[in-house]
Amino acid sequence: MVLLIGVLSPIYFLQLCNMPYKKIQQEDISFFGSVTGLQYVHTDEEQRARCAADQTEDLRYIPEVVLLPGTAEEISSIMKYCNEHLIAVTPRGAGTGLSGGALPVTGGVVLDMKRFNKILKIDKRNFQVTTEPGVITQVLQEAVKNEGLFYPPDPASKGSCFIGGNVSENSGGPRAVKYGVVKDYVLNLEIVLPNGEIIWTGANVLKNATGYNLTQLIVGSEGTLGIITRIVLRLIPPVKHDLLLLVPFRSAVQACAAVNAIFLAGYTPSALEFMERDALEWSMRYVQATGISLPDDIAAHLLIEVDGNNMDELYRDAEAMSQIVQQYDIDEVLMADSHEQKQMLWTLRRKVGEAVKSNSIYKEEDTVVPRAELPELLTIVKEIGREYGFHSVCYGHAGDGNLHVNIVKAGMSDEDWNTKLPAGIRKLFGEVVRLGGTISGEHGIGLVQREYMNVAFNETQMNLMKQIKHVFDPNGILNPGKIFL
Ligand code: LAC
Ligand code: ZN
Repeated sequence: MVLLIGVLSPIYFLQLCNMPYKKIQQEDISFFGSVTGLQYVHTDEEQRARCAADQTEDLRYIPEVVLLPGTAEEISSIMKYCNEHLIAVTPRGAGTGLSGGALPVTGGVVLDMKRFNKILKIDKRNFQVTTEPGVITQVLQEAVKNEGLFYPPDPASKGSCFIGGNVSENSGGPRAVKYGVVKDYVLNLEIVLPNGEIIWTGANVLKNATGYNLTQLIVGSEGTLGIITRIVLRLIPPVKHDLLLLVPFRSAVQACAAVNAIFLAGYTPSALEFMERDALEWSMRYVQATGISLPDDIAAHLLIEVDGNNMDELYRDAEAMSQIVQQYDIDEVLMADSHEQKQMLWTLRRKVGEAVKSNSIYKEEDTVVPRAELPELLTIVKEIGREYGFHSVCYGHAGDGNLHVNIVKAGMSDEDWNTKLPAGIRKLFGEVVRLGGTISGEHGIGLVQREYMNVAFNETQMNLMKQIKHVFDPNGILNPGKIFL
């Protein structure tokens, strides 16, 4: 063994011993400073604390250093160095993630992408935009809108999340039901590989049958395969009008059943969102909304949006959907009659997550099933909740079969929360898979769902994924501790 150690490089020795990553020393800091300029190398407590958390539960992992590179070439030098010295690197966007993807669980470097904040080119002729990853999604949407174009994906956090994070997580949002998720818009990516090489993954084209689809492999890979430095997105023509309905149901399961009835009748709303009573009530309290009545017997709401260019058609569709939901036990359908009212209803919907978080310690599960199975999923969530003693607040993108199950700690003992609840979640995920679904629709696996990956995938599938990770990142330095246990 002594002889063997003598001929091994330090990296392989560390790996062989399953040692943690190299601790960052002054010489590393000096190197990073020579790459980015020392003003973009932060070791102070404030900056490290800022990058210790995202929006996932109350988790915190303090990095050793925060770097703010400004170019792909700088990232390339940093990655090459970290790869050679076995230093962990965790990329970070705006920190709005809900699965812990940006948490530096082994310390090391946080690569804060916020200086990559430029929209590089809006190509009106080709309906494309080339952007850096640190642009806020809503800023990007407004910039292309000003040029008469439309980028639909709209995660709840669109006012603060970065487009790079959206690509890394393959985010969705309410409009996904009609317009698709982020993957449906990504044409091409520039990435820095863990060894420092810079590549483009594809081409700026609408069709591409040229080799393996590296672009879509990177989309949703949660910052574990490469650092995204440029993004080319497909755009579509804008839509002129929309109408918004709020439908109160006396049974939450019936609200879920009504979702499929709308599709079966031939309609595709531009959003079809479900909110259990608690979700709306807590959000109303959180944003101090007035003007929406919530009678005691209402168990859930559907928020239904239709959009298009012909107002008469929209009114006809909205009327038809109002008729479809009449077959269920509902109260009066509200059609938002002003821009302000629409904004208010959307704010209430978008703030549910924050409202739940402000209310109690919670865990957010991101279940997704084939749409018609949604009523059964909700029934099962509540049954398992009774069996395992947890209360859940459910809401989400019902039109996609995507139900966010927020499990609130409330009166649960620490013991039950830490030991009994994971078994309940495992059981729930098992049922989700039985229904033909999977364990995350849009929040990713990151840190908090990785222990459940084996519910969705068998050993062969997991090994394939691990081998892909190994091809990109043989030293395991990029975003360690994510996706796989
Ligand atoms: C939402 C986020 C949590 O739908 O995905 O509000
Ligand atoms: Zn969502």
